[in-house]
Amino acid sequence: MNAAKFTGEVRWGILGAADIARAQFLPGLREAGGGRAVLVASRDGGRADAFARNHGVDQGVEGYDSVVDSPGIDAVYVALPNSHHARWTQRALEMGKAVLCEKPLCVGSAQTAAVLETATETGALLWESFVFPFQAQHRRLLDLLAGGAIGEVRELNSLFYFNLSRSEDIRLSEELGGGALADVGCYPIRLAQEVLSTRDPSAGDAVGFATGNGAVETEAVAIVDYGRQRLVLGCGFGRAVDTFTRVLGTDGQIHLTNPFHPQPADTLVLRRDGKETVEHPTVDARPFTAALRHIHAVLREEETPAHLADESSLRTARTLEVVAQAWSA
Ligand SMILES: NC(=O)c1ccc[n+]([C@@H]2O[C@H](COP(=O)([O-])OP(=O)(O)OC[C@H]3O[C@@H](n4cnc5c(N)ncnc54)[C@H](OP(=O)(O)O)[C@@H]3O)[C@@H](O)[C@H]2O)c1
Repeated sequence: MNAAKFTGEVRWGILGAADIARAQFLPGLREAGGGRAVLVASRDGGRADAFARNHGVDQGVEGYDSVVDSPGIDAVYVALPNSHHARWTQRALEMGKAVLCEKPLCVGSAQTAAVLETATETGALLWESFVFPFQAQHRRLLDLLAGGAIGEVRELNSLFYFNLSRSEDIRLSEELGGGALADVGCYPIRLAQEVLSTRDPSAGDAVGFATGNGAVETEAVAIVDYGRQRLVLGCGFGRAVDTFTRVLGTDGQIHLTNPFHPQPADTLVLRRDGKETVEHPTVDARPFTAALRHIHAVLREEETPAHLADESSLRTARTLEVVAQAWSA
């Protein structure tokens, strides 16, 4: 890595005039500071121009290659449908860019392994865009668990639902790698890696069922065996936002109203010995801020990289496959 390259702002290029780029990435980038959105690429040049004008990006360009190949870009944000993540993340890594790729990193564990191999071979830095591990509430949760606040963890019960109002959406397409499990069920699975420690699940370790639209599952529930611990997860597109999560231990419980994108009104409640302690999380205004602040600091060689894709993405992808087998068998 060339530290001198990053003495100024980190120059970001965005792939896709995507909703998540507008609603979360760019506001987080503004709050984090130290980075600038220089290019946004769309399949359609006019859409790229309009997106750049309306959302504070220096320039819109046609075609994702225009960003990936640009020598004026240090880091690429991949905000494309899941089925496109592998190809464009690999292209960006091969051009030596740092990459923040939206979750899930790929469709399936084989693609995930190939992308991680590219990251290793090129030495370029790759993050999968789960931003909650960078946030203060998550560290607080892990500190409580490590300190024995609820004894030994036995179960993680975690949900992620929201109401998908658009009838045309990448999440409803099998070809684009959609489905409730990949879109929001991946969050409980990623959280389980941090909270459940006995062993990762393998084929046959999940039971569950799903309902769908004929192409992808739109609601799903599953119980996943992690050895002496289990994950009980629910996910779907058919009800108001709900990410309520409980960590259940031998001596107590921790309840979080929102472990993934907490707001100031959310709570972390510790229940033990008939007592209840209620905390509100310390949060940035935007969920992506802490992750982007960290990435900028890493690129300036001021911090050691944390939560890189190679630490977690393959485990996430494998567990997603184990869970999907529960209803596809
Ligand atoms: N981390 C989070 O909190 C979070 C939250 C929401 C979504 N996400 C993830 O972000 C990614 C994008 O989600 P989104 O909600 O922003 O989706 P979106 O608004 O539909 O954006 C996806 C973009 O992909 C591009 N694209 C390329 N090929 C496409 C195709 N065949 N059909 C549709 N779009 C195509 C489009 O950009 P152009 O037409 O401009 O090229 C489109 O704007 C997904 O991986 C999703 O899982 C993450």
